[in-house]
Amino acid sequence: MSGNNSKLLKIRALDVSYGSVQVLFGIDLDVTPGEIVSIIGPNGAGKSTVIKAVIGIAPAQRGSIHFKGREITRQPAHEIPALGIGYVPQGRIVFAEMTVTENLEMGAFLLKDGKRVRDAVDRVFSEFPRLHERRKQNAGRLSGGEQQMLAIGRALMLDPELVILDEPSLGLSPKYVDIIFEKLMGLKEQGRTLLMVEQNAARALSVSDHAYALELGKNRFSDTGQALLNNTDVRKMYLGGA
Ligand SMILES: Nc1ncnc2c1ncn2[C@@H]1O[C@H](COP(=O)(O)OP(=O)(O)OP(=O)(O)O)[C@@H](O)[C@H]1O
Ligand SMILES: [Mg+2]
Repeated sequence: MSGNNSKLLKIRALDVSYGSVQVLFGIDLDVTPGEIVSIIGPNGAGKSTVIKAVIGIAPAQRGSIHFKGREITRQPAHEIPALGIGYVPQGRIVFAEMTVTENLEMGAFLLKDGKRVRDAVDRVFSEFPRLHERRKQNAGRLSGGEQQMLAIGRALMLDPELVILDEPSLGLSPKYVDIIFEKLMGLKEQGRTLLMVEQNAARALSVSDHAYALELGKNRFSDTGQALLNNTDVRKMYLGGA
């Protein structure tokens, strides 16, 4: 399938450099509507950089990025949310001195109408009842898992079609890793499309329709999540053997 419109996100031959150091070399990646797609690979492989190029905070030197058939290569970062792309950065970044509700409102900066902001907050609260219970608390006092829910909730405020997550389970307790992965599958069931980077490769592959394994800034493997889980080389290189 080569038509732009069958893919929600389509990356072709993407090169990215930071200064004089090239870190991505000809990356190709497709995200089909309704899928969970994961990017796995060792530290420094360039996983976050792929995401950052999509959302306009890493400079694409060559190649192209299309979202819904429209070219967004080098589109400024501040124009990305309005296109329907939500972003959850690595490290569950929240505004510690602001309440849970205020953090969510920050995710709706594009909505001028107060009623629409309140509706969006309510929609996120119904998805994350835990955040509703904590709505008046400062985000800095939440547990790590709750902060990650808040970061995801904030990215959902503008009702994005594509949600991009960088290491959603990193540093969380096993209980919260389970909760976050369940939430991600729930988002898919609601019809959202997810692109995520994960250190927890086995877990990510198990929920992914499609996945990409990167090595030194290049595509190394790409297949269904299940096929990569069963691939001996992938198991050796990315899943700690066995
Ligand atoms: N802002 C930056 N300036 C210069 N070099 C950078 C910058 N960000 C990342 N790099 C370098 O680019 C390469 C790819 O980094 P990237 O963060 O994309 O990797 P990653 O696969 O997400 O790694 P990790 O698993 O550690 O998050 C690394 O060598 C990194 O040191
Ligand atoms: Mg990273």
